[in-house]
Amino acid sequence: MGKERIPTHVGIIMDGNGRWATLRGKSRSYGHRVGSDNVERITEHAFNLGVKTLSLYAFSSENWARPKEEVEELMRLLEAYLKRFLKKLQRENIRIVITGDVSALSLKLQKVIAKSEAETANNLKGVLNLCINYGARQEIAYAVNKILDKGEPITVENISANLYTAEFGEPDLIIRTGGELRLSNFMLYQGAYAELYFTDVLWPDFNETEFDKAIEEFGRRHRRFGKVQ
Ligand code: IPE
Ligand code: IPE
Ligand code: MG
Repeated sequence: MGKERIPTHVGIIMDGNGRWATLRGKSRSYGHRVGSDNVERITEHAFNLGVKTLSLYAFSSENWARPKEEVEELMRLLEAYLKRFLKKLQRENIRIVITGDVSALSLKLQKVIAKSEAETANNLKGVLNLCINYGARQEIAYAVNKILDKGEPITVENISANLYTAEFGEPDLIIRTGGELRLSNFMLYQGAYAELYFTDVLWPDFNETEFDKAIEEFGRRHRRFGKVQ
């Protein structure tokens, strides 16, 4: 890697586990297992490069519509990932936060989430924002309801300030693996001016070199935010 501009906040739509496994004659669950191992690798790499916030889309509000066994496997993997990764996050000084409607998850998973968040709350090197049962439309509705509860005016700034991830700012770069050219309900509001990077590489194959390619491409983009130049 050269001296690329490093985005402060990167979001990743980690797509393609199922197809990756099917191509190898394996079960979709196997693809999710390999995909979940890749999360560790990319997380470590991103923070080492200087990314400050990494938002990973792990399970969408709409993913509940998948077969029950697949949903259960994804939930098991999330729990195992959090338990396994906690020590490393501590060592690396990374804070973990979970974004989404956590109340719909099993109590066991909610406990693991609460523990991971509490134990890493004072870590300062970076923030790993894991989006579980996350949907951007749901998040916008949540923000608007919060504003109404407070009796405040509904303004663009106020909506931004009441999103789940208000604290972490807007993503500079959103990467989607797996070849689909859509956002699938990921960060619709705060992603208004994010640079988008789509790759056909399936998530389990998205390694450090692929991540670097996205960063290099980001470095070549010219962000105008509606202005001239
Ligand atoms: C992982 O990829 C994304 C999750 C919802 C966990 P997919 O499971 O969507 O894989 P494809 O798109 O079917 O290949
Ligand atoms: C988006 O992938 C959700 C996650 C990566 C968690 P999907 O596979 O659910 O998206 P669609 O269904 O292809 O739009
Ligand atoms: Mg998919």
